[in-house]
Amino acid sequence: MSNSKVGIWLIGARGSIATTVMVGATAIRQGLMEAGGMVTATEAFVDLPLTAIADLEFGGCDIRPRTLLESARQLQEESGCFGQGIIDRTVDALCEIDGRISMGTTINCGATIEDLASGSCRNDRTLLEDIEKIRQHIQQFKVDRGLDMVVVVNLASTEPLLELAECHQRLALFLNVIDRNEKALVRASTLYAYAAIREGCPYINFTPSNAALIPALVTLAQDSGVPVMGNDGKTGETLVKSALAPMFASRNLEILSWEGFNILGNLDGKVLNDPDNCASKLKVKDQVLEKILGYAPHSKVHINYVPSLADQKTAWDFIHFKGFCGAKMTLQFTWQGYDSLLAAPLVLDLARLAVLAKGRGESGLMPQLASFFKAPLGVAEYRHAAQFEMLGKYVDKIRSSPNESDRAVG
Ligand SMILES: NC(=O)c1ccc[n+]([C@@H]2O[C@H](COP(=O)([O-])OP(=O)(O)OC[C@H]3O[C@@H](n4cnc5c(N)ncnc54)[C@H](O)[C@@H]3O)[C@@H](O)[C@H]2O)c1
Repeated sequence: MSNSKVGIWLIGARGSIATTVMVGATAIRQGLMEAGGMVTATEAFVDLPLTAIADLEFGGCDIRPRTLLESARQLQEESGCFGQGIIDRTVDALCEIDGRISMGTTINCGATIEDLASGSCRNDRTLLEDIEKIRQHIQQFKVDRGLDMVVVVNLASTEPLLELAECHQRLALFLNVIDRNEKALVRASTLYAYAAIREGCPYINFTPSNAALIPALVTLAQDSGVPVMGNDGKTGETLVKSALAPMFASRNLEILSWEGFNILGNLDGKVLNDPDNCASKLKVKDQVLEKILGYAPHSKVHINYVPSLADQKTAWDFIHFKGFCGAKMTLQFTWQGYDSLLAAPLVLDLARLAVLAKGRGESGLMPQLASFFKAPLGVAEYRHAAQFEMLGKYVDKIRSSPNESDRAVG
């Protein structure tokens, strides 16, 4: 295990995934549960100098006027996703962390997200002032908890797509956007990512929001010695899709149609009920098949909001394919899971692996983390098993050529 003191600063800290991350990490620390669902808790990672879950500190920001404990209790009441007594035994830790959650920004996030804030966010600051505020909050977290490193993870609601222009491609032009206070050219996620990178914090975009890791910011990360990665955690339907589609390809079974129907009832589902916000998610989910198969079968992903389901998401996928003699056949699957319980362990994995990368002096995109994302930035490989092999090779490389930070194992 690494000796350094690490904090995770969560954007969207009172949301379902963030709450589950903190409840889960606290429960693991107290010995109330195992780290099931965490990739880095498996045998293959056992001798790497990863930060112990028990040593992680949490902070972050949100825009909704409520407490972390309220979020945890709501999740438990609506979905019953945590084990018996877990919330009661983590109350003290949750209340303490809540004191470290600051107010975020909703700059250019669209009406659905602004409504969540119900007027509690100030949007009269300039972009530079907003960035400065975010940086101060991260610095404060670091000083207050005596941290050596902070990883920033974006777990905020999905924003509407940002149309990318030349100013998002080139760092110098992007910096002009900030200086000129051109608010329409950024969204809140852009400011958070920029602030994190300027603070030297590894940054993970777990959301599909494309305004976060724009190419100019990837360049900044590369130039500043900061590892970053996104986009959109791969937790459910797309995980299965990226595992199954290569099977059809390897048997020369042509996929004619792949229709995916998703229903969910949590706040994420409510936000995705707005067509502008949903467009970000659909764009990411829609591209997976073509990337894997090399052709684009008829395919549509549907996402519907069904409030009574709360955090339980169901995906039903119908796959129509063609085989010998042109015969048409079908495969159907249903995937039912707690959205936040599927995502939270991956957030902890990603944070630990980002700390490892930063300690090794890596910067820019982290392609070894491709298997965690629906749309891994800078990676052409979309087949799940092949992506997972990329992580295995990275781990093997660390073992065969440890650097100074890897040897500093506590
Ligand atoms: N659950 C999954 O399996 C999964 C998988 C991949 C990606 N995601 C994405 O992860 C994100 C979080 O999911 P969730 O289920 O926790 O959603 P959620 O709606 O429960 O939580 C989002 C939180 O972000 C806050 N927020 C919104 N805009 C903000 C801003 N500008 N600044 C700070 N906070 C802000 C909200 O108040 C809320 O507390 C979503 O974008 C979702 O699409 C989820």
